[in-house]
This record gives sequence, structure tokens and C-alpha cells, in this order.
Amino acid sequence: MQKLYIVMVGLPARGKSIVARRLLEGLEGYGLKVKIFNNGELRRSQFGVSSASPDFYSPDNLSARKYREDIYYNNIAYAKSFLEQGGHIAILDATNSSPERRKSIEHKSDGIPVFFIECINEDEEMLNTSILRKSMLPEFDQLDKKTAIKWFKERIEQYKRVFVGLKDEKNYIKFDTLNSCILDEKLDETLPYYVEMRDILISDWIQHLYLVRHAESQFNLEHRIGGDPSLTQRGWEQARALARHFQAIPVPFVFTSTKKRSQETASILIEQQKKCIVHALPEFDEIHAGICEGLTYKEIAERYPKEYLARKKDKYNYCYPQGEGYASLYERVYRGLKKALFLSGAAAGTMIVGHQAINRMILANFNFRRTRNVPYISIPQEQYFHIILTHRKKMVEMVPIVPLLK
Ligand code: F6P
Repeated sequence: MQKLYIVMVGLPARGKSIVARRLLEGLEGYGLKVKIFNNGELRRSQFGVSSASPDFYSPDNLSARKYREDIYYNNIAYAKSFLEQGGHIAILDATNSSPERRKSIEHKSDGIPVFFIECINEDEEMLNTSILRKSMLPEFDQLDKKTAIKWFKERIEQYKRVFVGLKDEKNYIKFDTLNSCILDEKLDETLPYYVEMRDILISDWIQHLYLVRHAESQFNLEHRIGGDPSLTQRGWEQARALARHFQAIPVPFVFTSTKKRSQETASILIEQQKKCIVHALPEFDEIHAGICEGLTYKEIAERYPKEYLARKKDKYNYCYPQGEGYASLYERVYRGLKKALFLSGAAAGTMIVGHQAINRMILANFNFRRTRNVPYISIPQEQYFHIILTHRKKMVEMVPIVPLLK
């Protein structure tokens, strides 16, 4: 079988390692032997906390530059021996910022084709959350969160001083990691596994997504819609049951809406997870019912009978006056989903604690319902949806939250 080097390229926090893992898992699915050689991991094992300082990445810091170069030489030697000993694809995961470094890789590849993948993402909110995730790396353990984030941002600036995007390399793809789309590609030869790699890159890649509806709120009890109510006592019990259910299941990323009922539902679970990044996305806020916010369906029928009937007739396309409808939710919900999936990465368990209408829209993305049926999908509060979606496995299962309520 043919051999190949895949070389990741891109500034820190652009999603390179996520893409590398996605390629590894996808290509292994084709029966190929694939291994990732990550410079950052090697550096952390050799230098640990002393490599946290931005100065370590300054092109002017000659001694640190030498250390980093040695790491690169070591890793490419490991990759070479992996390929010699029966491996098929070696993925070199590092910034590989300069054309000189990339030329050196091509030079050292001994005729084995080299495929570069440049990961690009300039969405500011995504970058900031990605940096927040980086600030949890073990090398920052001795720093407070604020300093860790500052140092990581300064590290990026140091890399920017030498970074040049792909241009003269023979084979490459420039990949928008947030939108999973190919921005540019160049192929100078028949590259092995190209079709498979392309397919993996553009396919959805969700390892474990847990789609949870917030627990019972005061408004649920009163049959009122919208608003920003807190959980009821029963709701808090449901939140505790959720936390217990996930005690042994890692959930490193939790996305809530900005509403209290969503955040309160997640709060106990978050405390009990070891390392857990929590992010409130307004994209996951419940449908805004405009003039009907805070009313019961009965009150809506009495006060706004025309609106009530219009919604009944075409619930998907109906839009509340001064509010939203299912059709108009589409754009923001999918933007939120894209963000959540980018930030959580390929191998991670991700939880979204959403709302009835929001979860219907998210779910519709995975179970391909006709739009007119979407507003009627059942979203119970004591069950959640477990979703797996890779180019080889697709699964949406409804799971009861156990241990059940006492
Ligand atoms: O009743 C709870 C709730 O989340 C409301 O806040 C929201 O308006 C409603 O569900 C959405 O469901 P439907 O579209 O069926 O009215």
C-alpha cells in the first residue's frame, strides 16, 4: 500500500489537532495504519511548564528555537520509522509555519508524497474560545486563567511573525475549520488517499453529542412560554439526576443558552465533571414568542385568536409578531451548532442544554424530518438524544436519564 505524509499547517488554535484526529479516525476506518506526530506533545513532555512563556516561541530566542527545531527533527524521524515499519500515513501535527520548514519536510520525505493541510479560522469568538481551551493545557497549570490566556495570545503573535500560508507547495488544501469547507486546493500529482481524505474533511464529524432539554422551569409548571424563569424544585432534581447519569461519562464541553433554566440545568453536571469548558451561546436561546412571551397557549388563543390559528395552520413558517418562528430560527440555530462542534473538537463528548424548539431544530438536522413535522418532534425533559455522525457511523438514540428521579 502507498505511503503518505500529511502535514498540518496553521497558527495555534485554528483547529489543526481536531482535523488531524478526524483524519486519523477516518483513515483508520479504511484499514490504514495511521499515526499522529504532534510537536506540541513532545515539547510538553520535554519542557513542561517552562515552555508556557511566549518568549519560548519568539523567533529571536535562539536557544528556544534550537529546542523547537530538535523537536521537529525528532518527530519527523519517529514518523519516518513508523512508515518504514509498516505504517501507511504519518500525520505531522504542528504549526509548520514557514516555507523553509515545509521545504525541509518535503526534502526529508524520501520521495513519499507530502500533503499539506492549512487550517484557517479567523472568527473572533471561535478563536477566543479555542484559546480558552488551550489555556487549560497542563503547561499552564501553574498560572492563573487570565495570565494563561494572555500568554497564549502572545504566543500566537510570535508565530504570526514567521507564518506564511501555503502557496508554492506541491499538494495542499486550505481548509476552513469552522465551516468544514475547502477554500483552495492544489494537486500536482496523483496523491494517494486523496478522495478518502477529502471525504473525511467535508463530512460531518460528531463523536458524541448529547442533546439535552433544560429541566422543568417555573413557566413549564404554569404552561407559560418563553421568559427567563428558574428551575422548579422538580427541575433541580432532574438536574441532579442528569449530573449523576453523566458522572462516569466525560463531557468536556457543555453549551447552554443564555437563559437561567438552561444554565441551572447544566450547573450541577459541570461541577461534577473533571475538566469542563462551559459556553453560553445566545444562538441556543429558546424561540422568542414576541408579543406572546410569558403567556399560556390558552391566553394566546383568547387574546390573539388570529395569531393562534395562523400558527396552528402552518407552525413551521409562522412567525410570532415581534418574535421568531421555526423557519426564522434556522440560521441562528445552525450557526450555534457549527460553533459548538468546532469548539468541542472531534474526539470530545459535547453536551448542548437547549430548549424545546431549539432542540427540535438541532435534531431535525440529524434525523432529516420534513420541515412541517419539525415543530411537533417530542423533546421530553427526562430523556436526551445521543448523536453520533461520522462518515461511517450515523446514530440518533433517545436515552432515558438514569438514575431516575426518586
Ligand atoms: O413551553 C416551553 C417552550 O420552550 C416555550 O418557551 C416555547 O415557546 C415553546 O416551548 C416552543 O414549543 P412550541 O413551538 O410547540 O410552542
